[in-house]
Order: sequence, then structure tokens, then C-alpha cells
Amino acid sequence: MNREDFPMLSMDTIYFDNGATSLKPYSVIKKMEEYYTKYTSNIHRGDYDAAQRTNHEYDETRIVVKDFINAEDKDEIVFTKGSTESLNLVAFGFLKKVLKPGDEILVNKGEHASNLLPYLVLQKEIGIKVKYIPLSEDYEVTIENVLNSITEKTKVIAIAHISNVIGDVRPITEIGKICKERNIYYIVDESQAVGHTKVDASRDNISFLAFSGHKMLGPTGIGVLYGKKELLEKTDPLLYGGGMNQYFEEDGSYELKSVPTKFEGGTPPIAEVLGLKEAINYLNKVGIDNIHNHELELKKYLIQELEKIDNIILYNKNSNSGIVVFNIDKVFSQDTSIYLNHYKIAIRAGNHCAKMLKDEMNIRNTCRISLHLYNTKEEIDKLIEVLKRSEDIFKIVL
Ligand code: ALA
Repeated sequence: MNREDFPMLSMDTIYFDNGATSLKPYSVIKKMEEYYTKYTSNIHRGDYDAAQRTNHEYDETRIVVKDFINAEDKDEIVFTKGSTESLNLVAFGFLKKVLKPGDEILVNKGEHASNLLPYLVLQKEIGIKVKYIPLSEDYEVTIENVLNSITEKTKVIAIAHISNVIGDVRPITEIGKICKERNIYYIVDESQAVGHTKVDASRDNISFLAFSGHKMLGPTGIGVLYGKKELLEKTDPLLYGGGMNQYFEEDGSYELKSVPTKFEGGTPPIAEVLGLKEAINYLNKVGIDNIHNHELELKKYLIQELEKIDNIILYNKNSNSGIVVFNIDKVFSQDTSIYLNHYKIAIRAGNHCAKMLKDEMNIRNTCRISLHLYNTKEEIDKLIEVLKRSEDIFKIVL
């Protein structure tokens, strides 16, 4: 991998906020520019050359995504706006139809709002019950706690592969086996995993899987919902309109197209779909295992150096991904973030959209460093040097 591939890295900023969004390589940006400058056209509607090219590029992306996440069929790949839309489609297009009052959805308090709030809405609307897998001392999800939380009424387990706050890599494959044995629908939020570690729908026996393009070197505004074909066939769309219907008549009759087209009503984000393909090509070229190992090596180094600073409180030093959460003792996390910004270091401070986690951690806000393939030891050295001087913090922040 070449840092020169990423134009933002020439902006003199150290970017450690990859959990929020990743930087984009030129190849992604150029692909989108190519579409806008050389063959702008809508999909699946035109017979002219540009439209044929766009159709081809768009349809090819579905195959590239299918291979990337090891789905069985390209029709199991639905393009959405992002993970949030994907998970809402599962909740309101599928679960709302198949769940009955009293059925239980198992989640945990470390989940992002997108993989929790839709189920709380369903709880209110249709009387299902949202239950929480207790977290371990390190705020992690263990197989033992998953097993102890399952009851006769458990119909769904919804979990992120990697937590966006604690960065723990959940036992996704083992939970998948349990779900298969017990006939439980298995929903996995891959937002923080995709592009960092292998995402594998078939290996993990996942019913529905969601991710966003912008956290994996791709554009904003494009995401994916994977669903097993027979489940997608039972799922209702959230959007009705052009492109997704076979016909509709005055007498009120209508027929929708088959999956995945019935979920993609209206003109989709075409440039973004094409950009997503280039992002996957880039990740494949570098190799997901190489990216994963690089991030783990950097994380180990970061933890080792942070532990040498007396007033740093670390919350997740044992987790197994490139996410590190900490605070400077007695300093509000946002102040730390503003202080680091003074030295052109970008991190995220706050509750990271996982608003129930405060109940477990007894701390409302943290600073989060989230690494990606282009981060370096030199960048960590700069961060450490600035944190070591943090007695200056209130001169700079106030
Ligand atoms: N969900 C994103 C994050 O964790 C925005 O930062």
C-alpha cells in the first residue's frame, strides 16, 4: 500500500478517526469522476452506449461485493444508503412481518444505535422483547454469556462483528453456529469490520449483514444489505416507486420485481456504487489479512506507548482490533480532542453512538483512536509526544 494513493494524507493531518469514516484512494475518486465525465446515464433504462456501460459497471459491482463477502448469489446483495438503512430494512421489512408479541431479540449494550434503536421501536410497535447479553469485565461479548442469554423465545441475535467503541472482535462464527442449530435469525453489523478483517456471510451462517462503503475506503451514501435469498424474498421494501415494480394498475393491483431490484426503488447512488467497487478492488489488492495484521501491530505499539503515560486511562487494551479508547485523567474527552486538533491530530470524542454503554462502563464519554491501513508508527509517536505534554492542555483548549 502506498500512502500517496490517499490525497487527504497530503493535508498535513494525522487521521485517527477511521471508525467514523475512512479516507479514500484516488482510484475511488477517479472512478466516480470517470462516470460523471465519460458516461453519465441512469441504470437499467437506456439503450445508448453510456447507459450500457453504466449498466455493466453497476451490475458488476454486485458480483464484486458478493465475492468480497462470500455470499452465494449476487442477488443476495442489496445496495442501500449505508448500514443504518440496511438494518432498518431488516427490522421494518422483515422482522416486523415475522416476529410475534413476546418473541425475543438478543442484543448487547455495546451496540451502535443503528443495531439497537430499530428493535426498540419494534418492541414498542409489535410487543417483541429486546434483551441484553451481559458484557464481560472488559465490556466484551463472550460465547458463555450468549449461550446463557438464549431462551425458547429467542428468535433473533443482532450483534456487531466489531464494536465501534470497545473494538472487541465478537465470536461471530461461533454465534453463527449456535443460531443455525437453534433456528435463530442472525443479524451482523459489519460496519467496523469490513475492510479491516474478513467478512464472510457463508462461513458465519449470517441471515442478514450490513455495512457502509465510506468506512472501507469507499464513498459516502452507499452501503450494502446482504440477506439469504429466501429471507430477502420474504422482506418488504421500505421504498416504493420507479425501477422496483413490474406493473401497477388502476384497480390497485401491482407486482414488484424480484430481489434485489425490489429494494432499490428510484435512481440509486450510481457513482457511489461504482466507487464502492474500486474500494473493494483496492482492499483486495493490499489484502485484508495484511491490513488486519498491520492494524494489530500498530495497536500493540500504541497501547504500549500509552501505558507509559501516567495520566492516561485505557479502557480496552485487550481488544483485538485497531480501536483504542482512552481518556486523560480528569479531562473531558472533547477537550482532549480539541487539544489534539491543535496539533492536527484527528480523533473522535464522545459516546460514539453507543449510548447504552455508559451504564456498563460508568463513563459517558471517551476519546477513540481508530486505525486503518495507512496509519504509521511515526503518526503514533507524534500523538504520544503531544499527549505527554498534556499539562498544557487548558492553555490550548480554553
Ligand atoms: N458510527 C460511526 C462511529 O462510530 C460514525 O464513529
